[in-house]
Amino acid sequence: MLRLVVLVALAGLCRADLPIDCRFSDAVGTWIVSESARTGDPSLDCSGELGEVVHQKQFTLTYPNLVTDELGNTGTWTLVYNQGFEHGTFCIARRVLGNKTGSRVTRHRVLGNKAGSRVTRRRVLGNKAGSRVTRHRVLGNKAGSRETRRRVLDKKAGSQVTRRRVLGNKAGSQQDAHKPRHLVEEELPGLDEPYKNDLEMIERINSAQNFWTAKAYPQHEQYTKREMLRRGGSRKFRLPAPGKATAEQKARAALLPTSFDWRDVDGVNYVTPVRDQASCGSCYIFASAAMLESRLRIKTNFSRSDILSTQDVVSCSRISEGCAGGFPYLIAGRYAQDQGFVAEECNPYLGEDTATCGTDVSCGRTYVSDYKYLGGYYGGCTEEEMLENLLTEGPLAVGFEVTADFYLYSEGIYVHGVGNVKADFDPFIVVNHAVLVVGYGVDEASGMKYWIVKNSWGQDWGEQGYFRIRRGTNEVGIESLCVSATVIP
Ligand SMILES: *[C@@H]1O[C@H](CO)[C@@H](O)[C@H](O)[C@H]1NC(C)=O
Ligand SMILES: *[C@@H]1O[C@H](CO)[C@@H](O)[C@H](O)[C@H]1NC(C)=O
Repeated sequence: MLRLVVLVALAGLCRADLPIDCRFSDAVGTWIVSESARTGDPSLDCSGELGEVVHQKQFTLTYPNLVTDELGNTGTWTLVYNQGFEHGTFCIARRVLGNKTGSRVTRHRVLGNKAGSRVTRRRVLGNKAGSRVTRHRVLGNKAGSRETRRRVLDKKAGSQVTRRRVLGNKAGSQQDAHKPRHLVEEELPGLDEPYKNDLEMIERINSAQNFWTAKAYPQHEQYTKREMLRRGGSRKFRLPAPGKATAEQKARAALLPTSFDWRDVDGVNYVTPVRDQASCGSCYIFASAAMLESRLRIKTNFSRSDILSTQDVVSCSRISEGCAGGFPYLIAGRYAQDQGFVAEECNPYLGEDTATCGTDVSCGRTYVSDYKYLGGYYGGCTEEEMLENLLTEGPLAVGFEVTADFYLYSEGIYVHGVGNVKADFDPFIVVNHAVLVVGYGVDEASGMKYWIVKNSWGQDWGEQGYFRIRRGTNEVGIESLCVSATVIP
């Protein structure tokens, strides 16, 4: 089975560009995918022209996750956040122009592009899922030897003009393969002012309820509001609603223990120490690395106890935006499958993405054999499947929405919206943060169910770097977007 990723990327765009926001309705339909010759060249750049087409395939994506090619072969597909989609069928696609038949209206919606007004680029990474050996043979590339990437440009029916505008605009301008491209951050007034703990909000939160307490963090005042937003995740997209558990899933979940914590399984801690992402919007990398680190320990009973390099991904991944954000599905999943993680010592964390990729190519790499959204596709996650996956596979990466009150969390079970915090966001916007669920439980006094979650804001934030959050109600989206990857020890 092979995998094709169509990513609609914002990379390299000028300020004030609209965020891409792909929806299910934009992805479903029939796509014609054209492929140029497979050269094995890892330096492919999506700003160039496609060149001669040597292969064409047609894929029909239907709800929720079935894809069929023109020969009737089937596979699955998923949205990748709101950035594009990925599917596994019987085709290797690389450096492709895709062509979805459909109306102009749909096209513009897909592009996140109001009637031809903005620059929009789409990048696609095509690759094969499954056996690494085969993949590397296909690419003529020894495991871990070189970063190999495939890029694709796609466009919709009849959009020649759009495409030319798109390609012409930024071609070659900041396409250094290893230089992270910065996403546009929403421009709000006052973002470069110093962050100040909102003592009044703390007071309101603490007097309004007893689930959790808020406190001031003096160390946060070293950051600007923009930097705090980056710590919180940096980019905003709509989290999907969680999926619905089947009766069978519910029955299985009812048999699970009422509490579990990977930090203490018969006295053994499988979770690596809490780290601090600093002012870099790299939460998605920390969550990804932390999942693979724990899963390595679980799988090998500590014969592998690596700390993985997050800086390598910040500086070297071309499927994320370095300190300006990214997605665990693409990092714990795609990046770990294609490039692999190196150990922390190989490229220690700097918390900035200005450097070019400095990873020593001779460092050993750790790969994953498989990765998925729980539920099988974006929007399929359920509390029940989270519990099962957590218990059988290990800690898992999830996304959720960070709002101004969350920065102030001190202890307890976080519930959003208490103490009238909603009125106070300005200039804070809601951003999506990525973290690692390591356990769950039930509060004895209140009966409230909670998740135990590892954050990446240092050990002196929250409950020794962790927080608990209400479980079973999709609190701030915590049960809507869950990524599991299978690490190869
Ligand atoms: C896209 O599809 C349309 C309609 O089928 C076709 O006319 C057009 O040539 C196609 N473009 C590409 C680049 O394949
Ligand atoms: C894991 O390693 C520990 C310490 O070496 C050992 O006591 C334990 O039996 C091992 N567990 C398993 C399941 O092999």
